[in-house]
Amino acid sequence: MIKNVFLITNTSCNQSCSYCYYNIGVEKKIKGYLDYKLLKRFLNRRVHRISITGGEPLINPYLFKYLKIAKEKSNNIALSTNGKLLNSKMLADLKKAGVCRIFISLDDIVGELQNNLRSHSKKSTLRAIQLLTKSGLEVSITTVITSRNVDRIFEMQSYCLKNNFRFWPQPIYIVKNKKSQPLSLKSLGNRKWEKIINSIPKDMSSTRGAKFLNNYYQIFIQKKRKNIQCPFKNRQLVVNTNGDIKLCFHSQPISNIKNNKLSRISQSKIFKNENCFAEQCFQYFL
Ligand SMILES: C[S@@+](CC[C@H](N)C(=O)[O-])C[C@H]1O[C@@H](n2cnc3c(N)ncnc32)[C@H](O)[C@@H]1O
Ligand code: SF4
Repeated sequence: MIKNVFLITNTSCNQSCSYCYYNIGVEKKIKGYLDYKLLKRFLNRRVHRISITGGEPLINPYLFKYLKIAKEKSNNIALSTNGKLLNSKMLADLKKAGVCRIFISLDDIVGELQNNLRSHSKKSTLRAIQLLTKSGLEVSITTVITSRNVDRIFEMQSYCLKNNFRFWPQPIYIVKNKKSQPLSLKSLGNRKWEKIINSIPKDMSSTRGAKFLNNYYQIFIQKKRKNIQCPFKNRQLVVNTNGDIKLCFHSQPISNIKNNKLSRISQSKIFKNENCFAEQCFQYFL
C-alpha cells in the first residue's frame, strides 16, 4: 500500500536559492502547473499522507483545487514552503483546506547562511515561523546541511526541540564540478568529520541531528554500510508537475497520471527492492 504521495505542483518559485535543485540543473524546470483534473482522476484511492511541494506551492493558482482533491483522499496533508507568502489569512485558509503540517525551510538561526544562500531574508522566515506557531498547525523545519552549517546543527536541533518543531536536516546535494562544490558535506575531510562526530553533545545523542551526523559519516565518509535499501521503496510516489509518476524524487518516470491510476500502480510489480541509495535520498533514511 502506498503511504505517501508527493505532488510537485509547480517547479516555478518566488525565490532563487543558489543551491536549489532547479537552479543547479539537478532537476528540470517544467512550465505550468500540475493538471488538477488529471490528478483527481489519478488519485482514486485513499493514502496515508499527501505532501504538496514545488518549486513554491504557494504561488500556484490551483493550490486550493489540489487541496480539495487531497482532502477527499487523506486526513494527513503536508505542505512544504519557503514561507515568503505565509500570513495569518493564508494559514487559516490552508488549515481549513485540510493541511495539518507545514514544512518550512530555514538553514540557520544564528549566522548569515540563510541570507547568503536562500535569497529570502532570515528575518522574514522567522516571522513566518512565528505565525505558524500561533496557527495550531504542526511545524517541521527543513534545514539544508552544508559544510558551512554542519557544526551548528545542534543550534537548529535545540531551537526545534524548544519550540516543539520537527527537525528535518537534509544534506546539500550538489552536482560535481560546480562552483558550489565546497558546500558539499563530502568536501570535509576525515579529520574534520571525526571532530564533528566527537563533539556531538551527550544530551543530544538521541536526536535527529545526531542521527543525521552519525549515519552520514558511516555511509558517505567511512563508506561502512553497503546495500542500503531505498527508504522510499514501496511506500511513496512522486507526481511531477507534468504528471510524470516517479518512484522517488530523483528517478526516471515510470508512467504518467494521464494514463494511469493510483489503484493500478499500487498493485503493480513496479515496486521491486530498490537498492539504489544516494545522498539526495538520505533525508528519508532518518
Ligand atoms: C525544492 S524545495 C520546495 C519547497 C519550498 N520551495 C522550500 O524551499 O521549502 C524542497 C526542499 O528542498 C531543499 N533543497 C533544494 N535544493 C537542494 C539541494 N541542492 N540539496 C538539498 N536540499 C535542497 C529546499 O531547501 C527545501 O527544503
Ligand atoms: S524556495 Fe525552494 S523551490 Fe524556491 S529556489 Fe529555494 S529551494 Fe528552490
